[in-house]
Amino acid sequence: MIRPVLRMGDPRLWQKSRPVENFGDLKGLLVDMRDTMAHLNGAGLAAPQIGVPLRVVIFGVTANPRYPDIEPVPDTVLINPVLTPLSDEMEEGWEGCLSVPGMRGWVPRYRRLMYSGLDEHGSKFERTVDGFHARVVQHEVDHLDGVLYPMRIRDLTKFGFNEELFPGASLPPED
Ligand code: NI
Repeated sequence: MIRPVLRMGDPRLWQKSRPVENFGDLKGLLVDMRDTMAHLNGAGLAAPQIGVPLRVVIFGVTANPRYPDIEPVPDTVLINPVLTPLSDEMEEGWEGCLSVPGMRGWVPRYRRLMYSGLDEHGSKFERTVDGFHARVVQHEVDHLDGVLYPMRIRDLTKFGFNEELFPGASLPPED
């Protein structure tokens, strides 16, 4: 079922979400998250964005000729994630968010990291990633700690409405 996505200002987006303990209850949540993300053409979605304070994120970006610069990211369900940066190196890039619709900001993120967590069946997995994949994971996991990307922008002149920042451009998906 497609669920409404909470928007910045809703206090539920500032809460810290709690770990999943019972995987039996997740099925409906994951269906709703996938439906909602697909409906909005998102690159990722975190459970608190639909008002569920659990440490569950989904993300994935398929190659799209409209956005040749965007690296594909495999469709992933990540539960109770742990992020481990592999160096101090940061990289800035544009981000959008379904909870901050119509806007983009220039956000620093770790360039390389390892992430681990559980899949939807409760099996542990880990990946070492960099670049856009690493950015998407950091953005989603921030949602679980009540952090939205505008809070990480260093130069607020690089935060604004899509039409003003990128007139006439068609932009990659928000997450
Ligand atoms: Ni987001």
